[in-house]
Amino acid sequence: MSKLLTTIRLHPANERVVQVLDQRRLPFEEVMVDLHTPEDAAHAIREMLVRGAPLIGVTAAYGMYLAALHEPAASVESYYQQQKSMLAATRPTAVDLFAALDQAAQSILQAGSLAERQQQALAFAQQCAADSIDACRRIGEHGLPLIEAIARQKNGAPVNILTHCNAGFLACIEYGTATAPIYLAQERGIPVHVWVDETRPRNQGARLTAFELGRRGVPHTLIADNAGGHLMQHGLVDLVITGTDRTTRCGDVANKIGTYLKALAAQDNGAPFYVAAPSSSIDWNIRDGLREINIEQRDDRELRYIEGWAEGRIQEVLLCPEGSAGANFAFDVTPARLVTGIITERGVCAASEDGLTTLFPEKR
Ligand code: MRU
Repeated sequence: MSKLLTTIRLHPANERVVQVLDQRRLPFEEVMVDLHTPEDAAHAIREMLVRGAPLIGVTAAYGMYLAALHEPAASVESYYQQQKSMLAATRPTAVDLFAALDQAAQSILQAGSLAERQQQALAFAQQCAADSIDACRRIGEHGLPLIEAIARQKNGAPVNILTHCNAGFLACIEYGTATAPIYLAQERGIPVHVWVDETRPRNQGARLTAFELGRRGVPHTLIADNAGGHLMQHGLVDLVITGTDRTTRCGDVANKIGTYLKALAAQDNGAPFYVAAPSSSIDWNIRDGLREINIEQRDDRELRYIEGWAEGRIQEVLLCPEGSAGANFAFDVTPARLVTGIITERGVCAASEDGLTTLFPEKR
């Protein structure tokens, strides 16, 4: 599969600098931004230059590498604890962030000298990126049969897949999670068509998913967030696949706000609702998603204003009365009972503790 854009990389001419694709500017401008310090990495995560659970994790790991490049002469252990806390205080919902930071700190602190710690930090970040690519590729392979089975029933008519937010390669390093089976199906010549939820308020569907599907030549149609139920009632959705920011060991799924409503509509209309979840997005320490997952609330400005392209630049306009307050909940939780199955890098399973621990017996 051709790689068209890079979401994160080391600066090609300077190993002390990390570069990220500024996703706030897509689909209008493709700009790589330099990160020099761990604070720059935290800023990139908080302000959503990078976003999507797997990419947030990888960026945090690179943040720890930048921290290693600026290690002070004394108090090594408390320095890395501080850096970890600073990077962790950026976005609360995606579990990949916290797991990557814990593992990065652990691997850095095992090294005996500064040079080794820097080497270790870089190797860990690069391994995180490689693991994400591998997990997404395998999710594609395990999800493909779901699309193939529907294609067989439809005798060559396109399989209509609805997705929410962006769980594509822009949320990861390559392939994406929800998009991986779609890209693979397209590669195998199976006709697919994707309904792309716009995903208010930040419009990751309209801006990012439509952009990357377009770049890869996947037929797609942008729809208003509220259109999915109507399409399902009319038999126009064969399959829903979304990503996840945190899935509990019992299969409750936190994902972009609005995912729950799609799952309810899917259940009412008999449309299969699958979640593509790399194991980096599974929180094995919690069971009850509604009670235990911290749902990010963002600035209500994201709701009250909308951004678009006008006069050769990105501009924002006010959408509502000047004084109206907004409440901007960024994620919701879809209970396991509404999830048909979870597509992981080890296979597809029921959204349940039994299902997940059958694939990941080491977590029993
Ligand atoms: O707020 P975002 O853009 O970081 O939210 C991203 C999502 O909700 C994705 O669907 C999720 O992280 C899965 S990404 C493979």
